[in-house]
Amino acid sequence: MGSSAAALIFCSLIWSVATQAPVVTVEPRTATIRQGESVSYRCQVKSSVQPVRLEWRKGNNQALEDNVKIGPDGSVLTVANARPGNHGQYRCVAISTAGRSFGNAVLNVKYPPKVQLTPAGPLQVRTGDAVTVECGATGRPRPTVTWKRRGSTLHLVTQEINDVHTIKWPSARPEDSGVYVCQADNNVGKSEAAVELTVVGPPGAPVASVNIEEMRVVEGQTVTMECKATGSPPPVITWSKLRAPLPWKHTVADGVLTLTGVGRQDSGQYICNATNTLGYSEAYTEMEVDSPPYATCLPDQVRLQPGNPLLIQCLAHGTHPIQFTWSRVGRGNLPAQAETTRDGKLMIASVKQADSGTYKCVATNYIGSSEATAKVIIKGELAF
Ligand SMILES: *[C@@H]1O[C@H](CO)[C@@H](O)[C@H](O)[C@H]1NC(C)=O
Repeated sequence: MGSSAAALIFCSLIWSVATQAPVVTVEPRTATIRQGESVSYRCQVKSSVQPVRLEWRKGNNQALEDNVKIGPDGSVLTVANARPGNHGQYRCVAISTAGRSFGNAVLNVKYPPKVQLTPAGPLQVRTGDAVTVECGATGRPRPTVTWKRRGSTLHLVTQEINDVHTIKWPSARPEDSGVYVCQADNNVGKSEAAVELTVVGPPGAPVASVNIEEMRVVEGQTVTMECKATGSPPPVITWSKLRAPLPWKHTVADGVLTLTGVGRQDSGQYICNATNTLGYSEAYTEMEVDSPPYATCLPDQVRLQPGNPLLIQCLAHGTHPIQFTWSRVGRGNLPAQAETTRDGKLMIASVKQADSGTYKCVATNYIGSSEATAKVIIKGELAF
């Protein structure tokens, strides 16, 4: 009994030496490439028993993808134009009458990140609603994922489970409205996706207000009027002028209306209109443009005979009040009988030959002054 068992062991030992299964190694054992690149593996077999048949498998026992090719003698496996799905373990299986054995190799395929938002937005919610946006990120190596608000560099606090990065507003407020960006980075590339969030408050109709309700400016100045509005969704602000188009030289940016080189004709009421989906609101700025006087004499030349009455009116455009001052060019003082009025008249009830000359009117207001002249010619009849 004891000796027959020993013989059996001895026999099977002989058999296993003579009919050893092949020894398989795959080179390289590990390769790391980028998406689109190619790599080849060679399967090396040592075997005392021939023939040996080679088979390649992906992972445990999956079929090979269509971009994975095997060379004519079966020993070389090439992954051409690699894609993320080629990532994994490859196995070379050697089969002979003595048995089968295998060797493994690993392929790492790196590829740039891709992000996907759920929901994709745009999102419109009411104040107080709970909002959740998920950013699913793929990429190899595993990307770093951050959420930011557009226009800000702060990273937002997020939750991550299984490569899904979630941003949450348990109770949205109008000021949460904005564009949120999920960005994924790895050493192959980066990718981002944005979602617009609009939080509409229950009292969300706009309320517009201007920084100044009445203004007085001087001709030629540059004027700015500012309008702000509350409301949600954030109102759109437009400016207009009551019963007239806006001045030609105007710009509007961020609710600020700028008028360059204003003239008197730009005086009037300017209307800021803040509009959103829930309504609109108007606010007004009244602007008065002041200008220096511009004087003329009517008439600017007159011929009279001694004894005639003289009447010259000095007229002035410009901001009131305007003061008028009459004088005589070259002599200063007016003739003794001359009278002037506050509204710019120069009168002489009965002119004399000596009243001939040039008379000057100066019109003055708080900005400046202007002058105009009138020539008075008095010719006596030959009265001898
Ligand atoms: C302001 O906007 C509203 C809505 O667009 C419009 O009905 C209204 O006439 C506008 N007001 C002015 C002064 O333009």
